[in-house]
Amino acid sequence: MDAEAYRRQALAAVESAATAAELDEARVRYLGRKSELKQALREVRDRETGMTLNAAREAIEQALEARQSELERTELDRALTEEVVDITLPGEARPRGHLHLITQVRREVEDIFLGMGYEVVEGREVETTRYLFDALNMPPTHPTRSPLHTFYLNGDIVLRTETSPAQVHTMERQEPPIYMVSLGRCYRRDTPDATHFPIFHQVEGLAVDKGITLADLKGTLQHLFRSLFGEERETRFATHFFPFTEPSIEAYVSCFLCDGTGCRVCKHSGWIEIGGAGMVDPNVFEFVGYDPEEVSGFAFGWGLERIAMFRHGLPDIRALWENDLRLLEQF
Ligand code: PHE
Repeated sequence: MDAEAYRRQALAAVESAATAAELDEARVRYLGRKSELKQALREVRDRETGMTLNAAREAIEQALEARQSELERTELDRALTEEVVDITLPGEARPRGHLHLITQVRREVEDIFLGMGYEVVEGREVETTRYLFDALNMPPTHPTRSPLHTFYLNGDIVLRTETSPAQVHTMERQEPPIYMVSLGRCYRRDTPDATHFPIFHQVEGLAVDKGITLADLKGTLQHLFRSLFGEERETRFATHFFPFTEPSIEAYVSCFLCDGTGCRVCKHSGWIEIGGAGMVDPNVFEFVGYDPEEVSGFAFGWGLERIAMFRHGLPDIRALWENDLRLLEQF
């Protein structure tokens, strides 16, 4: 073979390769295992030819290497000029989230009670029937004990249907005086509709001290309602029944929308029902070992969803669980 001509041809091919792929092609063609040069090298018998062929091989290898770094440099130059990032351009703003409406209401209620010197305590979402029913003075026949009403997990292990067991745990843990609230999720086997959802939140409150009366309850609730719904709000009690309070009441606040004159929100009564409350039943005190002759107290419990819905005129409780940003972003 003509080593000189081969070398010239190879160097020309290397030189004219404009891409890494073209360079590879030239490499295979002129230095590959089946290339003319490699075959000739295999058949070399004399020193002279061997030296000539090897010199050609080395020259081609060097050219390949040089061309390769040249191509790499060109590519880097291109990338640096064409793919520049203009760091002075405005960036993509990351959407910033905020607390869910229920969490906002929860924290607001906590703050109001902390301001009155109350303690915020944790309750248990998973309870025993002993704390959910027995301790709260519910007779064996009480309808809430039915598995149609309450989620039973296993034997006497249940999901709490209300936050009231937190009262009992707190009284078992400490001696009076007690001023506490406990907020969290509750579970009932309700079919979802505009005002029911199987998971919801309650705030439970308990005050136990010497000489606590219904008037203290009313003053406390009045303060809460005015903080939540405006300073002009009035509070009204109506008699009710709960197994763990005696007397029991249902608390109403004058409608913040129509100021008590009657509108759609208050169903033309001028009053909005917020939830249950009452004076702690002596049987509950006896369960935790308090002397009902010594101390008295009040307790209350309401749905946080209910407060949020009234405040914002939300017509459907399910909206609070759908996580539709078009709704959540409004609060
Ligand atoms: N636990 C009651 C309910 O869920 C509310 C309540 C709490 C009533 C405390 C009286 C005292 O309806």
